[in-house]
Amino acid sequence: VNLKEGIINRRTIRTYTDQEIKRNDIIDILNHATYAPTHKTRQTWRFVLIDGRSKDKLLNDLDMILADVSPEEARIDYKKKVIASARAILVVFNEKSDDDPIYTLEEYGAASALIQNFQLLAFEKGIGVCWKSHLFLGKMATHIGIKENEMVTGALTLGYFDVIPNTKERISAESKLTIF
Ligand SMILES: Cc1cc2nc3c(=O)[nH]c(=O)nc-3n(C[C@H](O)[C@H](O)[C@H](O)COP(=O)(O)O)c2cc1C
Repeated sequence: VNLKEGIINRRTIRTYTDQEIKRNDIIDILNHATYAPTHKTRQTWRFVLIDGRSKDKLLNDLDMILADVSPEEARIDYKKKVIASARAILVVFNEKSDDDPIYTLEEYGAASALIQNFQLLAFEKGIGVCWKSHLFLGKMATHIGIKENEMVTGALTLGYFDVIPNTKERISAESKLTIF
């Protein structure tokens, strides 16, 4: 697939087949995705992969993990549905700094670029990705070992897919462009 077609045709995938994804395939895609730009080549991203039995255990433990969180915030049924329907979940972290907001933006930006690389490469292999910004915050992030100087860039639900959703048309760049 050429770059232009890859970018235009990639879609967020939220419905997956039952086929398991080999861990090595995910790691291979990640190793290519790490060629994303990163300020001073810091590469502060880190990943947690949840699949197979650890995903089943997470589903079992979810009520306990979110016991102290209000039902409106916890949205346990929604989280259970999303986690159960994915074959694997890759949580991406980036470093943050409480004193230096620019550092946090740089690291979030770099990890976001890595995620887009990952999405494009995965899509090319038939592996669908949905970037979830709300799935693994707070207690969920603590449960999987987020460090004090990290934030969640995104939780990527993964799985092979049969159906490609329609493209949501984009607003033209010209209409967003000011020639100064
Ligand atoms: C930072 C970010 C956060 C997102 N969070 C969510 C999310 O929480 N839940 C979800 O279903 N999709 C999420 N998405 C996916 C977008 O909804 C999706 O990219 C958008 O609808 C355009 O569709 P496309 O990716 O197929 O072009 C997120 C995307 C980005 C870039």
